[in-house]
Amino acid sequence: MVKLIQSIIQEKREKNVMSTVNEDVVDVLINNTSEELTDELISDNMIDLMIPGEDSVPVLITLAIKYLSDSPVALQQLTEENLTLKRLKEKQRETLVWSDYLSLPFTQNVISETLRLGNIIIGVMRKAVKDVEIKGYLIPKGWCTFAYFRSVHLDDNLYDFPYQFNPWRWQNKDINNSYFTPFGGGQRLCPGIDLARLEASIFLHHFTTQFRLLGENRRLVEDRIAMQRELANAKEELHRMNLTMGDVQADHEIRSRDLIERALKLEGDL
Ligand code: HEM
Repeated sequence: MVKLIQSIIQEKREKNVMSTVNEDVVDVLINNTSEELTDELISDNMIDLMIPGEDSVPVLITLAIKYLSDSPVALQQLTEENLTLKRLKEKQRETLVWSDYLSLPFTQNVISETLRLGNIIIGVMRKAVKDVEIKGYLIPKGWCTFAYFRSVHLDDNLYDFPYQFNPWRWQNKDINNSYFTPFGGGQRLCPGIDLARLEASIFLHHFTTQFRLLGENRRLVEDRIAMQRELANAKEELHRMNLTMGDVQADHEIRSRDLIERALKLEGDL
């Protein structure tokens, strides 16, 4: 692969002598005048870009379709949002541009929720280059750690009903926080973050505006979703009842203690 990429670089160098027109990433890198950017480094960079980008976005798209096929309400809202944009573009006789993908908030919520629930990259590895103490735990120098995103993304202290596909949970919520890290964070944050979201948005736009998702068991799916929703409501109700019962019990304990104290005092007085 290295050889193949280096031959492409060589070919481009021969064709693009002194060219300032950048048609792709290789052009950007070979037109950079820094002496540090050798052909070997350029080909390494290209491979580094291709491998992580190769299957992550297809997995994201596949999971989005899977979750949407189980959630007709979300699919309908997504379709309406994208159809509105498509009609507007047709009316204005314009093609899609970069800013359009940011103008689709529900589509972005579907992508965020797929990334959270799907955990395409389940975590990242790190090696301690010095002794590190985190919340009272010592990670000695040289030890490897694995930051497990899945356990955070599916933690019910952070997300209500974490195993449910619920794109609405992202409405008016900032996605830049330490408990939502599908693309990692810090210095090694995924450089493909915007490209991945853009590719998924373009796919979902064409998918929802040109195709219809038909399932033989659509009725069954809809029934299941209705049941899931009822179950979620019942769980919430139970939770509320438990809270109320806790309050009643606490009140009861205070009253009993009060009565006992008064009885003891009466006994003493007698
Ligand atoms: C759904 C799609 C994607 C997900 C979930 C994802 C996730 C991640 C994560 C979690 C890391 C951090 C690894 C670490 O800290 O050790 C990472 C790094 C990286 N990603 Fe992505 N990625 C996606 C798409 C892409 C795409 C499309 C590209 C390029 C075209 C890409 C290129 C890279 C590269 C080059 C790194 C290494 C960065 C470094 O080590 O400094 N990724 N990705």
